[in-house]
Amino acid sequence: MTLLHLDSSHSSDSVTRRLTRIFADAWTASNGHAGYRRRNLAADPVAPITAAYCTLGRRVESHGLVPPEKVAALVEGPAEQREWDLTLPLIKEVHAADTLLLGVPMYNFSVPASLKAWIDRITFPGAYMEDRLRGTRAVVVTARGGAYGPGTPNEALDFQEPYLRAYFGRLGLNEDGIHFVHAEMTLTDIVPHLARFKKLTADSLAAAQEKAKTLGATL
Ligand SMILES: Cc1cc2nc3c(=O)[nH]c(=O)nc-3n(C[C@H](O)[C@H](O)[C@H](O)COP(=O)(O)O)c2cc1C
Repeated sequence: MTLLHLDSSHSSDSVTRRLTRIFADAWTASNGHAGYRRRNLAADPVAPITAAYCTLGRRVESHGLVPPEKVAALVEGPAEQREWDLTLPLIKEVHAADTLLLGVPMYNFSVPASLKAWIDRITFPGAYMEDRLRGTRAVVVTARGGAYGPGTPNEALDFQEPYLRAYFGRLGLNEDGIHFVHAEMTLTDIVPHLARFKKLTADSLAAAQEKAKTLGATL
């Protein structure tokens, strides 16, 4: 079994990193360390895509759906070669994973740019992934300063879960293979006017810790 663990928080004291660690520790306790791989996308960022990436992508798309291993034959020039050399290992890493674990802080209602850079790389235009990821599972651990759950005033502003559900669904994962763990109201210790919500923070964190541990032990 293989687990690809991605963290994307830029914080030195990150809630999502603590929660993904709980999942990863439970997972490695059951499955061992041989199949465990971690990337810190904030500390060790994936290079943003370039014009050469888009040019190669358009050429690949013009051939229909191309398996990633056949893209190399369509590369023209050193700039495109560099882009493909940066991209293919990341795609292979995703294909090799049975489970993807993502730590995703909410930044401006959505995902951090560090994670979006990885998404834009691994989703190479025209490179065909769908049937290979049917059985892959994704566990997305989010943390938010506010509350965005069902029935809250900010529910419609959650552009993390709907976006990542749609993204992984389009990537080919089964809907029931995508799991979310949310820690909400994470700033009540810091922001004075949120102090009255500390109990909500504690309850949300405890539930997230429990869910991360359970999923890690069972997936
Ligand atoms: C750049 C930035 C943007 C943020 N935007 C939001 C936001 O739109 N909504 C929100 O509820 N919290 C927001 N926050 C607060 C974080 O979601 C919160 O601190 C969370 O715990 C971050 O996860 P982490 O602890 O893993 O870094 C933002 C924080 C930062 C640094």
